[in-house]
Amino acid sequence: MSKTIAVIPGDGIGPEIMNATLRVLDALDCGLSYEFVEAGMVALEKHGDLLPQATLDSIAKHKVALKGPLTTPVGGGFTSINVTLRRHFDLYANVRPAISFPGTKARFENIDIITVRENTEGAYLSEGQTLSEDGETAISMVRNTRKGSSRIVRYAFELAVKKGRKKVTAVHKANIIKTASGLFLNVAREIAKEYPQIEFNEMIVDNACMQLVMKPEQFDVIVTTNLFGDILSDLCAGLVGGLGLAPGDNIGAEAAIFEAVHGSAPDIAGKGIANPCALLLAAADMLDHLGMVDKGDKMRNAIRDTMTHDRDSVTPDLGGKGSTSSFGDAIVKRVRAA
Ligand SMILES: NC(=O)c1ccc[n+]([C@@H]2O[C@H](COP(=O)([O-])OP(=O)(O)OC[C@H]3O[C@@H](n4cnc5c(N)ncnc54)[C@H](O)[C@@H]3O)[C@@H](O)[C@H]2O)c1
Repeated sequence: MSKTIAVIPGDGIGPEIMNATLRVLDALDCGLSYEFVEAGMVALEKHGDLLPQATLDSIAKHKVALKGPLTTPVGGGFTSINVTLRRHFDLYANVRPAISFPGTKARFENIDIITVRENTEGAYLSEGQTLSEDGETAISMVRNTRKGSSRIVRYAFELAVKKGRKKVTAVHKANIIKTASGLFLNVAREIAKEYPQIEFNEMIVDNACMQLVMKPEQFDVIVTTNLFGDILSDLCAGLVGGLGLAPGDNIGAEAAIFEAVHGSAPDIAGKGIANPCALLLAAADMLDHLGMVDKGDKMRNAIRDTMTHDRDSVTPDLGGKGSTSSFGDAIVKRVRAA
């Protein structure tokens, strides 16, 4: 297969982890070519724009993008580029797998949870924010829609079917937030009936947090609204050893952007010690999305084997003495040998 994707190396550690990731993709021989475009501080400095039109055009043209982390400047009224991209391309599903890998400092060993987070509405968007003149009262609106709830719940069930998963848990707060969260829950209950082969259960978000920490093995696919998904998916990343291993897929009907959940890590940028795995795992999800599931699995297996057997090569955040490039080299070697 021959396919071009948009590649945004990003800020901070972005170019370092992107370089390692593209080397592994090339070693997999999946027929991908890359159109490099810019966003974030790099784009602001070069073009005076955090998100140039050429970048939006490239994503629209190729429909698939691999994105490094972007720095959103503090203050100055800048909106998050990630939120802008999600809105612009209506990337309604934020899919965040959390899988245990060997050799991490995680508390659990057999976690395999996918959080499917609604990405375009809900409390996270903080629509209609106001602050009273005396600074005493802040207001922000929560807007959930039947359309938004339906498409995210359906996405979660379809994903469960496609990936052979057994159970979908809808996480909500409908006991208190009766309209907005209640709408989401009612829609989830209705759609669940269309998938009798997948077990369905529902859980209030505070209990879900406790259950995730106490008995994570009961979870398979979680579907939830935007803000709860933001928090729960980081909790799940923590269960498997932190953000260095957490990919985030942003999926819409017309485009999909694959990225690491972590940020541009300015504290370690340029030191050559950033862990490339989160972006690599996002690239593996991208291969699944492009119909190359065997290549995606090959990449995940190579990462797993490297973390098990090539401990010297792994980066310091995983307890190794290696660098971004030694980690990348070891994974490339395993991909080639497989
Ligand atoms: N998706 C994105 O583009 C995205 C996501 C989150 C934050 N950000 C941006 O990133 C910048 C920095 O944010 P932050 O410091 O809060 O979060 P961060 O995720 O960049 O860093 C948090 C901590 O984790 C470490 N870390 C992160 N990724 C790592 C990796 N791959 N390997 C090893 N260690 C890693 C960092 O060194 C740091 O100590 C901010 O400008 C923020 O807006 C971007």
